[in-house]
Amino acid sequence: MRKLSIITLIVAFLVSSLAIADEVNVFSARHYDSDIQLYEKFTAKTGIKVNVVSGKDKVLQKRITEEGADCVGDLYITADAGRLGALQAKGMLQAAGWSKKVKDTVPSNFRSAYWTGIAKRARIIYYSPERVSANELNGMTYESLADSKWKGRLVIRKSNNIYNQSLVASLVKNNGKKVTAAWAKAVVGNMARTPKGNDRAQILAVAAGEADIAVANTYYHALMLSGKKGKEQQAAAKKVMPFFPNQQDRGTHMNISGAGMLKYAPNKANAVKLVEFLLTKEAQSHIVNNTFEYPMITGVTPNDLVPGKNLGFKQDLKTKVKSYVDKQADALEIMTAAGWK
Ligand SMILES: [Fe+2]
Repeated sequence: MRKLSIITLIVAFLVSSLAIADEVNVFSARHYDSDIQLYEKFTAKTGIKVNVVSGKDKVLQKRITEEGADCVGDLYITADAGRLGALQAKGMLQAAGWSKKVKDTVPSNFRSAYWTGIAKRARIIYYSPERVSANELNGMTYESLADSKWKGRLVIRKSNNIYNQSLVASLVKNNGKKVTAAWAKAVVGNMARTPKGNDRAQILAVAAGEADIAVANTYYHALMLSGKKGKEQQAAAKKVMPFFPNQQDRGTHMNISGAGMLKYAPNKANAVKLVEFLLTKEAQSHIVNNTFEYPMITGVTPNDLVPGKNLGFKQDLKTKVKSYVDKQADALEIMTAAGWK
């Protein structure tokens, strides 16, 4: 009898520890309800519960760093390779041990040992077809944003924005620090106004005639076109056109939304499973049709509202998104020195 109750106890312990193990803790700086729906799908399929702590990137990174070994987070999910790299630089990520599944689906330029892309975006130019001619745009590159013909015609957000830091970091990587410093000075000289607002605000400025060209990420324009941001923004979005820079050389600047494996992840295996699920066709279709990002895997069609039908433009696949992290400090230094607010 005594033996039996000990066995019962052991079994009960094993069952309870299994129950505890069947979860994964996600710290997410992505503010999409559609992500929560995805996690629910994952739970329905696997029985693994997804606990989500959401917040702004800086707040979450601070919390993860301060909690150290006590942090219960498994995965850190955020937008921009620069942010994932920043957390890695703080020593708060570990090698994830990505499975063959992950390695086979995500091209190596969109992942590292510590994190992987789960969706893509391009940072492109939006222009007014009324005030910018096809001839002016012909062969346009990020480099030619510095051209004096754009004087007083360009809007772009502040230098503290990670998307800009990653874009400028990619220029440092490709053209060097000195050339990029001169470029940044000229770009600041071309600005139609002191940088303010988010990416959608730049598109709105072009629509309103405050500027002729804007730099913004692809999903923002689609989001505006969708009507989810109201009729006014929808109408404004229809007044601008997308242009993909650097089609004649390395291709358009790409970035990711990604997931990083946290240093002290208590449920590492489940975290890998969740990432694998996020890279399935089912999950990727859900992502692209809700956030208007580009799919990370092949065989999934981007939403119709997003520019660059079927990713039929030349992406910069040569510049690894990892390099945005390495050149981030240089980029910020360059922008600050150029007087980029
Ligand atoms: Fe964004």
